[in-house]
Amino acid sequence: MSALRIIPVSLGTRSYDIEVGSENLKQIGTFLAAFQPISSAVILTDENVNRLGYAHRVAESIAETGIDASIFSIAAGEQSKSIETAATLWETLLEEGIDRKAVLVSVGGGVIGDLGGFIAATYARGIRFFQVPTTLLAQVDSSVGGKVGIDLPKAKNMVGAFLQPLGVLIDIQTLQTLPDDQYRSGLGEVIKYGVSLDAELFQFLETNIEKINLRDIVILKRIVADCCRIKAKIVTEDEFETTGYRVLLNYGHTFAHAFEIQSGFKLLHGLAVSIGAICAARLAVRLGLVDETFLQRQLDFHQALGLPTEVPNGIDWHQTTGLMRRDKKSEFGKLRFVLPTGIGSCRLIDDVDPSLIERGL
Ligand code: GLY
Repeated sequence: MSALRIIPVSLGTRSYDIEVGSENLKQIGTFLAAFQPISSAVILTDENVNRLGYAHRVAESIAETGIDASIFSIAAGEQSKSIETAATLWETLLEEGIDRKAVLVSVGGGVIGDLGGFIAATYARGIRFFQVPTTLLAQVDSSVGGKVGIDLPKAKNMVGAFLQPLGVLIDIQTLQTLPDDQYRSGLGEVIKYGVSLDAELFQFLETNIEKINLRDIVILKRIVADCCRIKAKIVTEDEFETTGYRVLLNYGHTFAHAFEIQSGFKLLHGLAVSIGAICAARLAVRLGLVDETFLQRQLDFHQALGLPTEVPNGIDWHQTTGLMRRDKKSEFGKLRFVLPTGIGSCRLIDDVDPSLIERGL
């Protein structure tokens, strides 16, 4: 398979590379060994990913460099991004004698990456961290940029930190074993980059719908690398989300987080983003930022990729705006949205009138 694509994330002393390849899990040992001395590698994964053998492949490659590697596997699913699982992991690392020269390696999707990073940021006041994302959602978004954390029952990602990893290794082949809903969920984040941030990527996606649906490796490698490049640029300029630039990565997310909570986290994040992006586009039409043609083009695009566009049954719009005010992106209790202004461009709009949402989207 073709060569690796290396995407640098330039953040001074916290700089790192994202390596996008195919069948490259076995190269992690070499990648990690550059950061010696390392006392041990703690590999965090979930039961589904562990069954597929990815964590073992990572452990073997690390062990070949002489670094002791052990696997810790937890229950799969958003429910594991909790204070209870974090407490169990802190205790386990202590019992296993893990010290500050250890590296925590997350092998899995967004939950494992966010939770693993949170443990690395907090255990022993911080150990080093490495990301091996194996879902599309984690490869294009959550493994890049250093946001780590856990959920509170009524607020997603509410407790956490910024911790940049030592590196990110992406093996595109792992996408072949993803269940369909997980793959679609990743596509929900991919469309975010195209629709709200990069018109060229949007056009590439629109002209390759069939290959995307068939999980063509060459196309996916280009898409994942493009998304990482777009995100790396934004993170480089606004690492801690203080200037209003990084927040633009959240197209559809204000709606998505509220829908996820109302579904008891049963609705997958990227599918919630897909619905949230359509709600954001509908709101943008109401505010006169885009026209119906834009909305229709986006609807057609989501449908061609098998992505949901309608809000789930039972969504209470009044409750939705209440949850949105509690979202961590909300400031001074105002409703804030990233809204499209055209294909590949968006704006952060503050203080949206709640009645525009409460009459349904
Ligand atoms: N997922 C949005 C961000 O990393 O800022």
